[in-house]
Formats: sequence, C-alpha cells, structure tokens
Amino acid sequence: MTSQSAAPIKVIYDTDPGIDDAMALLFLEYAPQIDLVGITTVLGNASIDTTTHNALYLKQLFDIAAPVARGAGKPLVVPMVEEPHFVHGRNGLGEVPVPETLSVQEHELPAHRFIIDMVRKHPHEIVIVAVGRMTNLALALREDPGIAELVKEVVIMGGAFGFYGHSGNVTPVAEANIIGDPHAADEMFAAPWPVVAVGLDVTQECVMTTAYMQELREKGGKAGQFFWDISRFYEDFYRRATGIDGIFVHDSSAVAYLLDPSLFTTRAGPIKVVTEGIAIGQTIQKSALRSFPPTPWDGLPDQKICTAVDGPRFLDLYFQVIVEGAAARA
Ligand code: BDR
Ligand code: CA
Repeated sequence: MTSQSAAPIKVIYDTDPGIDDAMALLFLEYAPQIDLVGITTVLGNASIDTTTHNALYLKQLFDIAAPVARGAGKPLVVPMVEEPHFVHGRNGLGEVPVPETLSVQEHELPAHRFIIDMVRKHPHEIVIVAVGRMTNLALALREDPGIAELVKEVVIMGGAFGFYGHSGNVTPVAEANIIGDPHAADEMFAAPWPVVAVGLDVTQECVMTTAYMQELREKGGKAGQFFWDISRFYEDFYRRATGIDGIFVHDSSAVAYLLDPSLFTTRAGPIKVVTEGIAIGQTIQKSALRSFPPTPWDGLPDQKICTAVDGPRFLDLYFQVIVEGAAARA
C-alpha cells in the first residue's frame, strides 16, 4: 500500500452502479489514501436515471460526502441497447429494494462539466477512476481537450486483451464498458493523458468466492451486509454464465491498481478500439516487439494495460480496507 502520510489522492469516480460499482465505491470511500471528490454517473448497467438514483442512494446510505453529478444517458454514436438486467437486476442493485425518495440531491453540473471544472480547479491532482462506459470522459475531452494534460491519471475498468484467454464478456472479443460506447473509448485512449486499462485479463483472474463474501458480511459491518445482499443476484448470474462459485472483481480492480500498482503487471503501447463490424468493441494494443508498416496506432500515446494480478494480495487488500473502514464508522 502507498504511504498513508502522503497527501490523499483526489479521485473522481465515473460509474454505472451496478453491483461491482457499488463495491468499488466503498473501496474508494474507505481507503485512507483517497479523497473522493466526486461521483459521476453514466448509463450502462442500468439507465442513467437508475444509475444516478443508485449513486445518490449509496451516497445517502453510507454518508458519502462527494457530490453526485449525472452523466450521459446515451452513447456517442452507437444505438442504445437494452441494459443487462440479467447481470445487475432491473434496479441495477441486484433487486435489493432502493427507496424512491432520497434526501440527497444531484450536483447542478452535468458529469462532463463537473469533470472539467474539478480538473481545472486542481490541475495535475485529479485521478479519474472510470468503471462504466467512457462517454463522460469523451464529452469532457471534446468540450475542453486541454484537460487531458491536467489530469494526473485515468484508471479504467474496461477492455480485454486476450491474456489467459480473456477476450470478451459481451461478445467473444468485446468487454461491456468498451462495446457500450466504443467511439468514446477510442477517443479516451487517444488523448494525451496517462491511461491504465484494467481489463478482463486481470478482473476475471480474481474471484470473490461465496465464502469470501460470507466473511465480508460477518466482519464488514453495514457495507459487508449490503455487499452480500446485492451480490446474490450477481453471483447467480456468474454461476450460470461461467460456472464460477462467486463473482469476478471488475470495478474494484481499478481501485486496487490506484491503491497499490505493485499488485499488477503492466504493458505499454498505443490502444485502438474497433468501432464497427463483428469485432466492434475490441481493444487492441500495438505490440512494441516488432515494427509494422504505417498503422492507425501511429502517433497515439502509449497507454498501459494490466496483464497480470496478484489475486490473493488484492483480495486481502479489499477485505482489509472494507473491514477497517466499516469499523471506523460503526
Ligand atoms: C464491467 O461491466 C459492468 O457490468 C461492470 O460494472 C463492469 O464495470 C465488466 O465488464
Ligand atoms: Ca461498472
């Protein structure tokens, strides 16, 4: 873990809650090294109304100070498709009841302007952790391209690069956050800010088993119980879809990279996203191991992808942060 005496890292969390999104939000909120300065929402696991409502509900339920700014309700170019209710439930939180009326309100700015505003107020200090579609990031870049050089780092959960056979979860070659808005992802990878893509290559190498979730429920206070409740639906989906006994740890893997990059092995190189055809949503990093004739990757910035993870150490870190964070707030 990074030193806790250093100034906390200012984070904007761009998210589509979402079960694993909710688990990653508390990971950020409870990590002592993080100063969560904003939550921005995007469509994805559910509609923008639902993901925004869920983010507000989580803010209220866990007394999170960060404001919630509503983001994009549709992708840049590709048509809307039905949300994956079979993964996160109709309400995005595994069918666990969410009150209709909340006591907290949305921020007055739309997500992409909130991002621009915060980056301009805190140049070189903000890390964006983006675990939904990249639409808000692309809209922010389109409106104010200069922010790219003022953002400290962008850590995304998204993409799949074929390591350990992990190449897609929506199609054989596409991951959900990227295929949901491939044009936005392509623009995001092309911008001159440092991006780390934490893709299926590592998130599907890490499983929170039912036994792990049970222990988290016992020791993780209100958060642990909540995670248990919302993840029952998600676990059923994964059991049916992949045969695993537990859940993949997608969005929290991006947070883990931020808290302790030594958990991951990375590889650098420019990345393009396929935006049409049967491979739409595929993420491809140009190899540095050989030379090619001119390609569309030329001139793009090197971005990092995660190629391996120390799963046990990551799961221990998550457990420790949640249990200690919950105890401190009990
Ligand atoms: C990603 O898609 C969503 O279902 C999850 O929240 C995660 O961000 C995994 O492909
Ligand atoms: Ca997500």
